Amino acid sequence: MVEQAGALRQRIATMRDTALAQLQSVADREALEAWRVRWVGRKGELSALFVSLSGFDSAQRPQLGRELNTLKSTLHEELQQVESRLRGDSGAGPKVDASLPGRPRWVGGHHIALQVLDEMLAIFERLGFSIATGPEVELESYNFEALNFPPNHPARDLQDTFWIDDRVLLRTQTSPMQVRIMRSQPPPVRIVVPGRVYRNEQIDASHAAEFFQLEGLYVDRNVSMIDLKATVSHFVQRLFGSGRSVRFKPHFFPFTEPSVDVDMTCFACQGRGCRVCGNEGWIEIMGAGMVHPNVFEASGYDPEEVTGFAFGMGIERISMLRHGINDIRLFLENDVRFLSQF
Ligand code: PHE
Repeated sequence: MVEQAGALRQRIATMRDTALAQLQSVADREALEAWRVRWVGRKGELSALFVSLSGFDSAQRPQLGRELNTLKSTLHEELQQVESRLRGDSGAGPKVDASLPGRPRWVGGHHIALQVLDEMLAIFERLGFSIATGPEVELESYNFEALNFPPNHPARDLQDTFWIDDRVLLRTQTSPMQVRIMRSQPPPVRIVVPGRVYRNEQIDASHAAEFFQLEGLYVDRNVSMIDLKATVSHFVQRLFGSGRSVRFKPHFFPFTEPSVDVDMTCFACQGRGCRVCGNEGWIEIMGAGMVHPNVFEASGYDPEEVTGFAFGMGIERISMLRHGINDIRLFLENDVRFLSQF
């Protein structure tokens, strides 16, 4: 038995030398594979030595087994080294793995509020409205006075803002553009005005100190509330689906008379009442009304000649409804985890 064990040790040593020497001359993957099959393959030489272990008695087997295992791991380690050498700098084949997916480049996109605004503008453009924009730093007289907010009127308190000096402020609404447009052109007017507005607000999930509005103004002879309702309801059906209907609730704005808050039927529950609409079945989407005669006069239009309607809505608010976004602050944080969802 002692001799037999010595013979096996001899075979282990020889195999080790021969196999490793052969491995050194392996130059390509094919040769490597042949080497692998011959020496460490399932039916290879190493396996044969393991099989021969069964011929030894239980006193010798464990030690010989360990020596065989050492050989086995040496061969595998060397095999791996040559494998990675061939993968890395064998002159043959590319050094890069072209099958790996590429890393996409970050490309920017339109902010979600602008995407929704684009949709809104497209709807009004089809109805024949044109688009105008105006200054965010505005005269107090346009923001309030010409819009029939008398000095010290309590309606001004609802729109506290940031003042530059006592005549100049950050506009609280896009409505001053009603006056600017009418002063700059004769009737008829059919215009929408997107833009940023500012308010001195307590900031929370539904209030921001800066946000966007879309203003609408339609002035001509014989414009009535029917035109307002038809326009608004077309808009709502285009943006939120043909099943929507609208209702008007009496409201107050200094620059419209009568004034209304416009609700649409909830898109989530079709008006039955759910969490989205706070069980109301209706969702408030804009303020609107018939242009007040005082605003026409302040703008140089004759209120005996023309009538008109105006509306104003928050673009973030519409976007939130449209996309189920629950916090207006997300619009200003520039967090790509939010923005890249749209
Ligand atoms: N400017 C009003 C606001 O910001 C909205 C509005 C616009 C209401 C036009 C009526 C007509 O609350």
